[in-house]
Amino acid sequence: GEVTLITGAASGIGRAAALLRASAGHPLALLDRDEAGVRAVAAEAEERGAPRALAIAADISSEREVADAYARCRASLGVPVNIVANAGVEIAREAHETTFADWSGVLGVNLSGTFLTCRDGIRLLLAESLPGAIVCVSSPSAFVAFAGGANSAYASSKGGISALVRALAVEYAAYGIRVNGVVPGATATPLLDVTTGADDDIAARARTQIPMGRLARPGEIAEAIDWLLGPKAGYVTGSHLHVDGGLTARGANDF
Ligand code: NAI
Repeated sequence: GEVTLITGAASGIGRAAALLRASAGHPLALLDRDEAGVRAVAAEAEERGAPRALAIAADISSEREVADAYARCRASLGVPVNIVANAGVEIAREAHETTFADWSGVLGVNLSGTFLTCRDGIRLLLAESLPGAIVCVSSPSAFVAFAGGANSAYASSKGGISALVRALAVEYAAYGIRVNGVVPGATATPLLDVTTGADDDIAARARTQIPMGRLARPGEIAEAIDWLLGPKAGYVTGSHLHVDGGLTARGANDF
C-alpha cells in the first residue's frame, strides 16, 4: 500500500481515516499534538492491518515541527503519496469577543497548518517526481453561515482551506498531484462539543437542522476521504465532496 500521512489522527475523523487506511494495508504516518492519543491510534492501526503505523507528536501550526514530521516519515516509511490534512480546532466565540490571539490561534492551526502540511508533502512528491493525492478537511462553514453565529474565525479558516484546495489543485494538476476537500457535516466527535456546548441536546437539534436527521459518524467521513485518495477518483481534483446529510444544501443551519 501507499504511505499515507494523516494529521489530527488521535481523535475523531482523523482516527477513523487512519483505521480505514490501516485495514486496507497502507503504511501510516500519524501526526497529532496529543502524543499519548496518537500512539494509541498507531497501535490500533497496526492491529487493524497497517504494516507500520508511525506515531509522530507534532503541532501542525509549527513550520519546524511539520518539516521534522515529514523527515521522520520519509526516513522510516518513505515519501507519503497520500496526505490527509485534517487537524483542526474550533472556538465558539462571537467576533466582537474574539481576541487577536483567538483569531491567530484558529487561523494558525486550521489554515496555516493545512498549508504547511500540503506544501511540505508537495515538495517531497516533486523532488521524487511522484504523483500523489491530498485531501483537506473543510467544513460547511466555508460555504454557508451558521444560524447560531459565533464562528467567524473558524469559518474564515475553512473558507481559506477551500480556496487553498482549488489553488493547489490547479497549480499541481500537471504533476499528477490531486488536491480535494471533504466537507463533513456535524460529526459526532469531541470537536462538535466545542461548537455546540457539550450539555446541548445535539441529537434533538440534528433532527430539526439536518435533512437526514442525524449526526455523521466519523467513519462515514473517512470513507469519502479514502475514495478521494484512491485511484477511483483519478480524474477528481479541486473538488469538494460534501458528506453532510444535506446540511450545506439546506443552506441554513444551527450547527
Ligand atoms: P477532534 O477534536 O476529534 O480531532 C482533532 C484532532 O486534531 C485532535 O486529535 C487534536 O489533538 C488534533 N489537533 C488539533 N490541533 C492540532 C495541532 N495544532 N497540531 C496537531 N494536531 C492537532 O475533531 P474532528 O471533529 O475529528 O475534526 C477533524 C477535522 O474535521 C477538523 O479540521 C474539523 O474542523 C473538521 N470538521 C469537523 C466537524 C465536526 O462536526 N466534528 C464538521 C466539519 C469539519
